Amino acid sequence: MLVKKIAVIGAGYVGITTAACFANMGHSVTLTDIDQTKLDQLTKGMCPIVEEGLLDLLFVGVESNRLFFTSSNKEAVSDADFIFLCLPTPQGKDGTADTSFIRSVSKEIGPFLRADATVVTKSTVPVGSAAVIEETLGRSDVSVVSNPEFLREGSAIYDFLHPDRIVIGSKSVHASKRVCDLYEPLAARTIITDPSSAETIKYAANAYLATKISFINAVAAVCEGVGADVLDVIEGMGSDSRIGKEFLNPGPGWGGSCFPKDTKALVKIAEIAGYDFALLRGVVEVNQQQHQRIVEKVLSFRPQLTGVFRVCALGLTFKAGTDDRRDSPAISIIQSLMVKGIEVHAYDPTVSILDNADDLSGIVLHGSSLDAAKNSDVVLLLTEWPEFTALDPALIGSKMRTRSVVDARNILDATQWRSAGFVHIGVGR
Ligand code: UDX
Repeated sequence: MLVKKIAVIGAGYVGITTAACFANMGHSVTLTDIDQTKLDQLTKGMCPIVEEGLLDLLFVGVESNRLFFTSSNKEAVSDADFIFLCLPTPQGKDGTADTSFIRSVSKEIGPFLRADATVVTKSTVPVGSAAVIEETLGRSDVSVVSNPEFLREGSAIYDFLHPDRIVIGSKSVHASKRVCDLYEPLAARTIITDPSSAETIKYAANAYLATKISFINAVAAVCEGVGADVLDVIEGMGSDSRIGKEFLNPGPGWGGSCFPKDTKALVKIAEIAGYDFALLRGVVEVNQQQHQRIVEKVLSFRPQLTGVFRVCALGLTFKAGTDDRRDSPAISIIQSLMVKGIEVHAYDPTVSILDNADDLSGIVLHGSSLDAAKNSDVVLLLTEWPEFTALDPALIGSKMRTRSVVDARNILDATQWRSAGFVHIGVGR
């Protein structure tokens, strides 16, 4: 294998994973970020994010002299064969993705790229961005390739090394081939296309997954109304090979750093293109309603509208296996409960009791589920951390004022909790 020089710009989830994995594949990788604190952590062998296996991979990369960190984009790109842009594209005011980071970095690095370098976008960018990057770089001797990432937080390394597919979109056949060769050791199915199709694939994939979840959350609501059990419904419908069971778990709604912004961005992209994506608008709306439906389940246990009512919230991250609370349904649901005057005591394995982040304001944090449950009226399970399935309902119940539980992820054993004297409510059951 030919060792390539790779610059990865942006040390977020995607950037750190990409850098660590390419270094692990034998390449020489330089990771950059404007945040010096992050770089200091990485240099000291720490990882700014919780991601299974990442710390070990970073360690091996640094020890083997294949992984370097710098705050200078110029230094990183000047001798790089490939430059991966892994920059944030947050939601702008009008719902479109804000590409200012992509544009400013493209402008900055343009003059320092070597001839025949390949600039690869991994960030989720609006359709047409490859052309904008090309123009901003101002280099006719450099190619631009769109190579969207499909990494799930919590299994990002596995997903990088075992991708379902690799999507490569470029106007240049030569550049597509070069990126293809880079991924060759992964022996993955590769889809080579034009830049706009590659960019659309990313949005369409995330929007479809969000649709599946909103669909099953809507079906769960119907199940509750007609007395059906959504788990049996999933078994029955998911056994159809055209449907499948994956991504059909009802819950508190989807969240995280991708689905909320990508669904809204696709609605906007469609609108600009002259199409009203009513289906996707509905998917977003069902998701917002789902937060409210969980709030109502909790409120159903509140005997009167005033007076102390205490909820023990288990889980704050948007899903298990990550410390990420961006657009977490748990936070949105808890905030709605607090607005109604409800006291929320919470525990999450990734949140310290001393954490004073803005999104946690007003929540009383505890170091264990048992502590959070003391004197509470309802246990509200919001994130599917495996440790919650091992809780002893009799012990938890002995600390509580009343024994009620809302399992927003359907992971608790309802029979066991009911036998311990709990009134149990799940989703769609
Ligand atoms: C997602 C995509 O899966 C990934 O391909 C993309 O590149 C980035 O966005 P991630 O944000 O890590 O990855 O989260 P994911 O595992 O997809 O879950 C998204 C949300 O949907 C979470 O809030 C999760 O709890 C929820 N979810 C997922 C459900 O409620 N039910 C399901 O069946 C699956």
